[in-house]
Amino acid sequence: IQSLAKELKAALKQYPNFPSEGVLFEDFLPIFREPALFKKLIKAFQLHLAEKFPNTKVDYIVGLESRGFLFGPTLALEIGAGFVPIRKKGKLPGETYEVGYTKEYGTDYFEIQKDALPAGANVVVIDDILATGGSAYGAGELVLKSQAKILEFDFVMELDFLKGREKLQAEAFTLLSGQEEKLGGN
Ligand code: PRP
Ligand code: MG
Repeated sequence: IQSLAKELKAALKQYPNFPSEGVLFEDFLPIFREPALFKKLIKAFQLHLAEKFPNTKVDYIVGLESRGFLFGPTLALEIGAGFVPIRKKGKLPGETYEVGYTKEYGTDYFEIQKDALPAGANVVVIDDILATGGSAYGAGELVLKSQAKILEFDFVMELDFLKGREKLQAEAFTLLSGQEEKLGGN
């Protein structure tokens, strides 16, 4: 899994001062341009989950809009789990639970469909990047409102200096350890 991680890391591209001054943006989209790499990304999560939860069935992968949608359904399919999206406010039909959350660059609202997760289901929440943890924490609230159980939060990458994992409702696993640093500012 370490060598997989190394290869994935090499595919990331950094953009200084995006989306705002002083932020070093990690773009993970190049991974998806290469099917072999994309496969490695999915494999890495699959191996980790099989190792970490050998006796527990992951019932659902819950993916966060937007970037969690890029690989969440693929991972779900690969491990035989369902996929449930958490979307930004106003996009989901039917009854929803809603939560406000604060993330790296502002406040937003997330929703989940009330009938999406059965009570007691084992859920892994996934997203591309753990920064302040605001988005993932908000997603966690929605899973808990649905009375499902959060096994773990999984991310491709973590900006560990922001200590986002400390505020989450369950453990976090990140494929790439975040050595990233902000270019300056806060
Ligand atoms: C980004 C990223 C994570 C979140 C991390 O999403 O994809 O979801 O921010 O930040 P946090 O840990 O501080 O909450 P964003 O909402 O910017 O846009 P997206 O729709 O492209 O995923
Ligand atoms: Mg996002």
